[in-house]
Amino acid sequence: MEEKYEAALNCLRKYNQEHILKNYENMSQNQKEKLLNQILTIDFNQIKELYESTKNEINFANDKIEPIGYVDKSALTDEELAKYNNLGDNAIKQGKYSVVTMAGGQGTRLGHSGPKGTFMLGLNPDKSIFQILAESLQHNNEKYGVTIPWYIMTSRENNDQTEKFFKDNNYFGYDPKAITFFKQGELPMCSEEGKLLIDETGAIKEAADGHGGIFESMRKNGIIYDMQTRGIEWAFIGPVDNILVKMVDPTLLGVALDKKVLAAGKSVVKAGPKEKVGVFCKRNGKPGVVEYTEITTEMAEATDENGELKFGESHINCNLFNVSAIDEVSKKKLPYHCAHKKAKYINENGELVVPEKPNAYKFESFIFDAFDMLDDMAILRVKREEEFAPVKNAEGNDSPETARKLYNDYYGLN
Ligand code: UTP
Repeated sequence: MEEKYEAALNCLRKYNQEHILKNYENMSQNQKEKLLNQILTIDFNQIKELYESTKNEINFANDKIEPIGYVDKSALTDEELAKYNNLGDNAIKQGKYSVVTMAGGQGTRLGHSGPKGTFMLGLNPDKSIFQILAESLQHNNEKYGVTIPWYIMTSRENNDQTEKFFKDNNYFGYDPKAITFFKQGELPMCSEEGKLLIDETGAIKEAADGHGGIFESMRKNGIIYDMQTRGIEWAFIGPVDNILVKMVDPTLLGVALDKKVLAAGKSVVKAGPKEKVGVFCKRNGKPGVVEYTEITTEMAEATDENGELKFGESHINCNLFNVSAIDEVSKKKLPYHCAHKKAKYINENGELVVPEKPNAYKFESFIFDAFDMLDDMAILRVKREEEFAPVKNAEGNDSPETARKLYNDYYGLN
């Protein structure tokens, strides 16, 4: 133990993080052990570099960003729609299709105390988000005569609560053997001065490493292997927080199969030049997403000959990947982005600090950065009112209230 302590202290000295051991003497044996192990496994150099990168202005000026082509679902002829749907239907019936739900986020804006999927929406009859998703998949199982394997990505923070919620609710009637939970990776959070934060248990505060962490965690948790051995060729990777998400869409799959591409994504028309959403684009010839923080006003306002926004295909986090593409991407490193967040922590006097404004940096990778690693992808434009009812904020835009209204309107429940 003493040797471990010395090794940990040396590492912290090297990176100017000795404060981490400030309360060490007051800790239990268990806490001490956990903290030393954590120190010895964290890549401090990576965190140092990520922190340094928060000071640099990101410059996209050298990137060539162009509009990307898409298929507009509502403009398809009956023949085209039938062609795509047949292709998709066949693959689903043959058991080649799976669904992955990304439920590892912290949901800080919603402010619900449990995992976002456990949030009760106030519907009549009331349902949690997880129940809505389970019922939607179950409906497709009946339609296709299969049981679609459902993988749910959680985080260390919310995994136990998520699994318990499913168990307590009898998996909402889904076959438990077809559901697999797996935890995503984490990265330490640091203060605005670059010091790693300490959590309420005395450990270094770590947080989920963004939805882009899905590829690496699918590899590490044997999910890719599981898909390959079950003969699954496609995975729809979607969010937990869109209650109109269409996780099984033969048209999307059919378009990808027809175009012979390894990935596809859904878009809805951007509400206006100022809407805060990322939009699909071609970046240096590769598919990608340009975020609202990167797009210039000129680009955001540019229109085509039909008067539509040139960069108007919003990414709604509905992603379809061929398993071979997931396998490839999982072997590479996605870039990290930095988010400025509010994070509770224990200060050097052992007191809990609950900040009122953002005080910490969190490092995250984004799923759409994986598109860049593919030569091409298909985009399917769908209707916002049919497929996009996000639950992000406690009130106002994209809140339970707006999502509930969209849901009730769509199902004619008003
Ligand atoms: P958001 O980016 O909206 O983040 O996630 P969030 O964590 O839910 O909410 P805030 O920003 O803290 O308020 C979009 C989707 O990606 C998942 C979320 O669970 C949601 O389905 N996600 C996000 C992860 O699975 N892991 C992450 O690390 C981040």
